[in-house]
Amino acid sequence: MIEVKDLVKTYGALAAVDRVTFSVPQGAILGLLGPNGAGKTTTMRILTTSLSPSAGKAVVAGFDVVDQPEEVRKRIGYLPEIPPIYGDMTVINYLKFVSDIKEVPQDKKANRIGEVLEMLSLEDMSRRLIGHLSLGYRQRVGLAQALLHDPEVLILDEPTRGLDPKQILEIRKLIKSLSGKRTIILSTHILPEVSSTCDDVVIIDRGRVVAADTVENLSQRLSGGKTLEVEVKGPAAEVEKALEKTEGVSALKSLGNGSRGVCRFEVTTDGSNDAREALFQCIVRNKWVLYQLTPLGMSLEDVFLKLTTKETAA
Ligand SMILES: Nc1ncnc2c1ncn2[C@@H]1O[C@H](COP(=O)(O)OP(=O)(O)OP(=O)(O)O)[C@@H](O)[C@H]1O
Ligand SMILES: [Mg+2]
Repeated sequence: MIEVKDLVKTYGALAAVDRVTFSVPQGAILGLLGPNGAGKTTTMRILTTSLSPSAGKAVVAGFDVVDQPEEVRKRIGYLPEIPPIYGDMTVINYLKFVSDIKEVPQDKKANRIGEVLEMLSLEDMSRRLIGHLSLGYRQRVGLAQALLHDPEVLILDEPTRGLDPKQILEIRKLIKSLSGKRTIILSTHILPEVSSTCDDVVIIDRGRVVAADTVENLSQRLSGGKTLEVEVKGPAAEVEKALEKTEGVSALKSLGNGSRGVCRFEVTTDGSNDAREALFQCIVRNKWVLYQLTPLGMSLEDVFLKLTTKETAA
């Protein structure tokens, strides 16, 4: 549904977007994640045809952004970093105005505006001046204008920016509910946003893609071997020695001893085999009691820091 290949945007000597390649299948939500200045907005502006690329190719909903920008624009809804809303218009008048620009058929206009107002819980605000709304409601008006012509692709540049925690949850839920039928790209530097909302993630840093995968795969791939948390009831020193020697275990760290003679360890395995079976057998053989054996994933935050810090150090 969205194909980006070797996309480049240069400003003088600066490559704001540097050979970026990714694709988003129909109905999926892709998170474009990166620190300030990474090139998220620039990439999105190219995809929405508001900026022309210096090189490379981008195809959105089957149309090339350079060759057929009109066709692309008909099929996308765009929430820019700073939503294009007018403070001295009422919500309803603004949405009527946008409907005309987006050529929503006259006979469908009132209906569609009603639907969008309901979708974003904006009904009570419809007669208010946009300038008098709180930031969260203004952001919703921004989303409403992106949805008016019922586009198949949504491009949302930091959709939860400036919102309070409750509104963030609501907007995330809304975005998720919009996927399936629609294909969505959202940008963010808030990590939980990606893990809670997106199917796939592309991490960019200083214009370049540093990782692209599903959230799950990415954290697994980057953690190398798997890490397990093991909790055993038994003599701590002996347990430690035995676990350390178990096949497939490459490192062991004590996480302290709890009450009732239970000790906890973080076990790193060499990744080549699943050490859980051998660990279990070892504990049983020694007649200790296994309280817990849990795989620990690397959080997206760890992944993000690992990738972007490595680049900085290079
Ligand atoms: N019109 C422009 N002229 C010169 N440089 C620009 C221009 N627009 C963007 N840049 C530069 O391109 C780089 C990428 O900017 P971009 O706005 O795409 O980042 P971003 O990932 O959206 O960051 P943020 O999280 O702060 O929104 C930055 O270094 C920025 O200064
Ligand atoms: Mg930006």
